[in-house]
Amino acid sequence: MTREELLSYAREAALRAHCPYSHFHVGAALIAGGKLYTGVNIETSSYGLTLCAERSALAAAISDGAGPITQVALACIDTPHDAPLHERTPCGACRQWLTDLAPNATIYIDGISQDFSIADLLPHAFSL
Ligand code: THU
Repeated sequence: MTREELLSYAREAALRAHCPYSHFHVGAALIAGGKLYTGVNIETSSYGLTLCAERSALAAAISDGAGPITQVALACIDTPHDAPLHERTPCGACRQWLTDLAPNATIYIDGISQDFSIADLLPHAFSL
C-alpha cells in the first residue's frame, strides 16, 4: 500500500476515536502480513487508563495473529496544518510498543513528509 493510502486510513480511523476528555482524535493504520489494521485512542473517565491509537492498532494486529508489521501510519487530525512534529509523534509508551512489535516498520506521520524508522523515534531503546 502506498504511504498516502495508509495515511488516509489513519485519518479515517481517527474519526472513530473515543476521546470525550481531550477531544484529540488520533488514528493509526498499519500493514501486517499484507493485511490492514487500524486503531484509535480510547479514553476512559480514569484518565490514566487511556489507550493510544498506536497501541490500539498494534493490539488488533497481534490479537489477529498477523504477520510482520511493515508500515505504520499515524494521524492526529486535530492538529493545525502547521503544527510541529512533536504534536504528531507517538508518545514514549507507544514508541516502546513499536520497538518491540514493529521493529522493521516504516512509520509515516500525517503532515510530515519524512519517513521514520522506530530507531529514529526511540534510539537506544530498551529490549530483552
Ligand atoms: N494519544 C495517542 O493516541 N497517541 C499518542 O502517541 C499520543 C497521545 C492520545 C491519547 C489521548 O487520548 C490524546 O491523544 C491526548 O493525549
